[in-house]
Amino acid sequence: MMLTLSQIITAGRQLTLLTGLSLSSLNAFASEHNPQSLDQKLRMKLAHHNITQVIPPPPQPPALVALGRNLFFEKEISGRRNISCSTCHNPLLGSADGQSQSRGQGASGLGPARRQKADEYFQFLPRNTPSLWNRGVNQWTTMFWDGRLGGTPETGFFSPAGADTPQNFSSALAAFTIIPVTPDEEMRGFPGQLDSFGQVNEMSELANDDFVQIWELVTARVTDHDGYNELLADAFPGVPESELDISHIGEAIGAFMSEEFTALNSPFDRYLKGNSKALSKRAKRGALLFYGRANCVNCHSGALQTDLDFHNIAAPQVGTGRGDAAPLDLGRGAITENPADNFKFRTPSLRNIELEAPYFHNGAFAKLPDALRHHLDPQNSLANYDASQIEPELAGMFVNDDDTINTLLSTISPELAISGAPLSKREINQLLAFLSALTDPESLNKLNVVPDKLPSGLTLAD
Ligand code: HEC
Ligand code: HEC
Repeated sequence: MMLTLSQIITAGRQLTLLTGLSLSSLNAFASEHNPQSLDQKLRMKLAHHNITQVIPPPPQPPALVALGRNLFFEKEISGRRNISCSTCHNPLLGSADGQSQSRGQGASGLGPARRQKADEYFQFLPRNTPSLWNRGVNQWTTMFWDGRLGGTPETGFFSPAGADTPQNFSSALAAFTIIPVTPDEEMRGFPGQLDSFGQVNEMSELANDDFVQIWELVTARVTDHDGYNELLADAFPGVPESELDISHIGEAIGAFMSEEFTALNSPFDRYLKGNSKALSKRAKRGALLFYGRANCVNCHSGALQTDLDFHNIAAPQVGTGRGDAAPLDLGRGAITENPADNFKFRTPSLRNIELEAPYFHNGAFAKLPDALRHHLDPQNSLANYDASQIEPELAGMFVNDDDTINTLLSTISPELAISGAPLSKREINQLLAFLSALTDPESLNKLNVVPDKLPSGLTLAD
């Protein structure tokens, strides 16, 4: 029942007449003897940290999404016609691959079962595959674990392609999509390797930084395919084939990801929209810790639980490492070349985090509670890390001598601090209940995003 203002005033007057107390004195009495409810406390905390409902990305044109859907599952855009975006960003595996470090060329199989093929040259990708949830949301302007790609249409886009980075994208997400086709170990293939039909791979002899030539060849693979003519014409009406380039392909894949991997209907979203029953009591207590004395909000800020900034929380050094620093991975430090940024990685969003194991930039932790506990005592976690939780090939590369540990700890973030006593087991469980309330139930089954068949005729399976 909605009361009008005058009804409320009348009701207040009647109350005063009946009890001799005014409405405001009654309220004061109630709050003195009845401590603030959990919801009042939590809503105040959320307001204090400026956590409000997330504005979803704008709906994308259906014809652009249809083209992007096919391209996302399309192996034709990989040099050897053997891998697609969906191989690593599997919609049935939380839009990632369930591997600690991702496996591209020279591997076969899907999800956690993907393994190196005995007879082929193989190199791990240096990092864990991130999920794609909510990357189309407007504020998401920084991509990769180390932020080496980003921007907005207003400020321009930057990427590993430097001055060759096309600028006519609508978002950082669309700009991102043209990068994975370029590295040899990811989608393009190594020199001399034939494609999966025994034909020459016309991109295999190029170098990873021959961006423009690779993009022209990838575009030709799509525009030369009869199956794609109609989809391209519908998505870009009036644009002649001769004017289609890699940025059109990027826009289409970006539109698909924005449309299908936006996940903003978790219990937490419903709570932010005003439904106080959407969260369990335990999750509310967890949220109070997250935004309170556990200080998770120092880095996992905003309604998507990320400041999109870079911090070192001293992840254990497992896996291949990256670039010249291997077996270490300098993270942000390798991009800025400032040693103070060494081992910093972009704060991950915690949306759908339950679906994203293994955790951290190198997949060091197989289980969510362990990823959380690492934050509470990184020194101890480094000293006692159990490498048996990751794939055996990577576990063998674990380094934890004193020098390495001290190096990793040298730039650790001072913001990683609990206020007051260490968290109890019960409080850790409350935090986990909150993390669980960040799962959008619709993300559990994304079978509906998979096309029945592809215009190229190539298979969806591996
Ligand atoms: C072989 C596995 C593999 C394939 C194939 C692959 N990716 Fe990725 N993707 C990764 C890894 C690993 C990263 C993180 C790399 C890093 O941060 O250094 C990543 C990062 C991303 C990101 C950035 C997410 C973020 O939050 O920063 C997006 C978006 C993305 N991929 C989309 C795509 C698209 C689109 C395709 C197809 C054109 C694709 N990926 C193909 C493994 C893969
Ligand atoms: C100093 C900043 C900071 C604080 C404070 C912080 N985190 Fe993190 N968190 C990070 C960074 C950075 C990573 C990724 C580290 C990496 O990959 O090396 C991360 C990773 C995670 C992950 C794994 C995510 C994934 O996709 O792999 C979870 C879960 C997590 N944090 C939860 C929490 C919780 C809960 C708290 C509060 C107890 C917290 N964090 C406090 C910065 C922070």
